[in-house]
Amino acid sequence: MGYNVAIDGPAGAGKSTIAKLVAEEKGYIYVDTGAMYRGLAIHFLDKGIKAEEIEKVIEACKDADVKIRYEDGVQQVYLNGTNITGRLRDEAVGQMTSKCSVIPEVREKLLDLQRELARTQDVIMDGRDIGTCVLPGADVKVYLTASARTRARRRYDELIAKGEDCDLNEIEKDIEERDERDMNRQTAPLKQAEDAVLVDSSDMSIEEVVRVIVELCK
Ligand code: DC
Repeated sequence: MGYNVAIDGPAGAGKSTIAKLVAEEKGYIYVDTGAMYRGLAIHFLDKGIKAEEIEKVIEACKDADVKIRYEDGVQQVYLNGTNITGRLRDEAVGQMTSKCSVIPEVREKLLDLQRELARTQDVIMDGRDIGTCVLPGADVKVYLTASARTRARRRYDELIAKGEDCDLNEIEKDIEERDERDMNRQTAPLKQAEDAVLVDSSDMSIEEVVRVIVELCK
């Protein structure tokens, strides 16, 4: 069994940034489960399926093959053999992913893949249900959060830096909608595991958060 670190928390809390840095420092493999859900969502979007068409989403799961590979240490996501990494962060993909990830069959599809990755190697895995559902026996569990305004501001700064036009209030509204869906779904909702350490990064630097988590690891 590998050494397993689980990081859960809402959208925009900085999970992937932090997890990548901890992975680098500790020599763990970083597994971004959100990217796997995003990969499936791209499959549904490309087939012209809407999130409300649940039967079609479930059917489409059957011919989706999502694979994670590491090329030069960087995670790449393949959907049926095509590298779709560049499309993962599109806003439309994020919205579709949040809607489709409430469907139990969609979650089931990715569960084994996630557990298998953690079984054989030392991983730091981020998502919504890693500490509560995917890896309940993880060696370290962290629930990383920040206020909705802080998270919206981070996303806004990211988009502006990329030269994209966006509106801070709009982003905050999207984040709140996403929280609401992620936290209130029936299957594997986002919540802090009882044995997870709560880290609120609203007033912390990236380095400070990394330090706290590295200290928790063996
Ligand atoms: O972490 P992220 O923003 O890439 O995740 C995108 C969506 O995927 C998010 O709205 C919730 C869903 N997700 C999930 O339900 N379970 C996970 N383990 C990871 C992501």
